[in-house]
Amino acid sequence: MDAFWSRHRYWIIGHRGARGHAPENTLAGIDAGLRLGADMIEIDVQYHADELWLLHDLRLERTTSGRGRLADARRAELEALQVSGEPLPSLDAAIRRIDGRVPLNIELKSAGGSAEAVARCLRAHLQQGARPADFLVSSFHLPELARFRAALPEVPVGALFCGVPLDYAAAAATLGAASVNLGADFLEPALLEDARRRGLALLVYTVNEPEELVRLREAGITGVFTDYPDRGRTAAGG
Ligand code: G3P
Ligand code: MG
Repeated sequence: MDAFWSRHRYWIIGHRGARGHAPENTLAGIDAGLRLGADMIEIDVQYHADELWLLHDLRLERTTSGRGRLADARRAELEALQVSGEPLPSLDAAIRRIDGRVPLNIELKSAGGSAEAVARCLRAHLQQGARPADFLVSSFHLPELARFRAALPEVPVGALFCGVPLDYAAAAATLGAASVNLGADFLEPALLEDARRRGLALLVYTVNEPEELVRLREAGITGVFTDYPDRGRTAAGG
């Protein structure tokens, strides 16, 4: 496994910031994740109206003051939205808020240009002094992730799986990924073994139960996405 992962024995990754403590995918959530000791912060990003927005759902109503599909909204409407009293953040604002204190895991939720837009955004930050290891870009949409990798190969990527592929971790290796990011319901030993054999880190989402956080550390999993980074810290031993 490469040097990126050797910084922590068991990575505690704040899921959508620190979703158990603060509104998801907000700057306040990022602050909470950092305060609670996350080793990395994960956010969901979608590209629309020439901007990268922090938003998990394709629709606006669950987490914002808006209604309807993000894809149907005008930029001015999005700029006026409230997310628990704050503006809907952009990727650029999230990167500035973290300011290189921990790596930021940017999950591409949409295709249609998001790979190139994220690459442009990260390239600008790299030119201003950020390091490639300040970022991990991931997606379930592996062709979009491949486009990101082609656009900005120095930034590590993680292949997201919500199940067990026929060829186990082969797609992650083909992508040149640094990690397999796997749903907790699919901890299939053959997939874990194949990922390990290929030198890939294993990150598991979303793990909130204290005993499960400990069990996965003892099983040698590289890291976990959790809504409760404080519980993760306890399980990691501080
Ligand atoms: O990146 C891990 C996890 O966030 C993937 O699932 O739906 O919470 O974005 P979701
Ligand atoms: Mg996510």
